[in-house]
Amino acid sequence: HRHLLGIEGLSPLDIAALLDRADEAVEISRQVEKKRTTLRGRTQINLFFEPSTRTQSSFELAGKRLGADVMNMSVASSSVKKGETLIDTAATLNAMRPDIIVVRHHQAGAVHLLARKVDCSVVNAGDGAHEHPTQALLDALTIRRNKGRVEGLTVAICGDVLHSRVARSNIILLQALGARVRVIGPSTLLPPGLPRFGVEVFTDMRKGLAGVDIVMMLRLQRERMNGSFVPSVKEYFRYFGLDGDKLRHAKPDALVMHPGPMNRGVEISSEVADGAQSLIKEQVEMGVAVRMAVLEALAMHLPNA
Ligand code: CP
Repeated sequence: HRHLLGIEGLSPLDIAALLDRADEAVEISRQVEKKRTTLRGRTQINLFFEPSTRTQSSFELAGKRLGADVMNMSVASSSVKKGETLIDTAATLNAMRPDIIVVRHHQAGAVHLLARKVDCSVVNAGDGAHEHPTQALLDALTIRRNKGRVEGLTVAICGDVLHSRVARSNIILLQALGARVRVIGPSTLLPPGLPRFGVEVFTDMRKGLAGVDIVMMLRLQRERMNGSFVPSVKEYFRYFGLDGDKLRHAKPDALVMHPGPMNRGVEISSEVADGAQSLIKEQVEMGVAVRMAVLEALAMHLPNA
C-alpha cells in the first residue's frame, strides 16, 4: 500500500504484520538510543486541520525516531486562514517534495481527496467521523499485548458512537481480527444501521458490559453536535459514564481503554481512568510504536526505497 487511508481495505494479514512491526518499535522506543535510519533523508509533513495532542506528537516522534525530517505545518497561522482551499494547500505542499504527509481534517473523505492530489504517501490521522486507522491499530496492539490475542475477545465500545471515527475504525479492525464487538450508548448517539455491521447494540450500560473483556470508552464529541442533541453532562454520566459500579458488570479481569482526550466526570470517572484496570497510559506509548510501524511500512513503497 502507498497510503494508509483507513482500516477498510487492510487484510487481517496486513494488520497482523503492522502489529508485529509495532512490537519491535516498542522495544526500540524503550532503549536509551532510539534513533533508526529507515527514513533518513526523507521528509514528513504533519498537516493537522483539527486539534491534536497524542496523534500529532506521536507521529512527530515516530518520524524522528526513524530518522526523517519532520515538519509540523501550523494550519492556524497558515494561508488556510486566508481562504486557501484544501486542494491548493495540498498542491503547494506537494511542490516542496515531501515523501509522507500525515493529515487530520474535520471532513470525512478529505484525506482521500488529498491523497489523489499529491505524489507522496498519505496517512489519515483522522477525517471527520469517518476513520482514524492508527488509533484502531494502537488499540489492537494494546489489547494483544495485554490479553495475548484479539480473536475471541468481547469488546464493548461505549458512548458517542455516532460522531466517532475511532469507533468506526475499531469496529472494522476488531472484527477483522475475530473479536466480538458490542456497541453501547444512548439511541440518539448510535448511527442507524449498526447491526448491519455485525455488532450487537445495547442502550443500557450494565446489560451491555455483562461479561466483556475490554471496555472501550469514547469522548462525548460536543463540538460535532451543532446544538442538535447535546445531553446534560450530569445525566450522561449517570447513565453512560463508566464508574466502578458499572465496570463491575464486565469480567473481573476486564481492561478499560479510552483514546483520549478524556472528559473526566462525563464519560469516565477518575477512579476508573486512573485505576488498576486502565490501559489508557499504555495506549499512548503504543501510539508512538504503531506510528513508527506505519511509517516504516510506507517507507518500503517510497520511490528509490
Ligand atoms: N486519540 C486522539 O486522536 O487524540 P488526539 O486528538 O489528542 O490526537
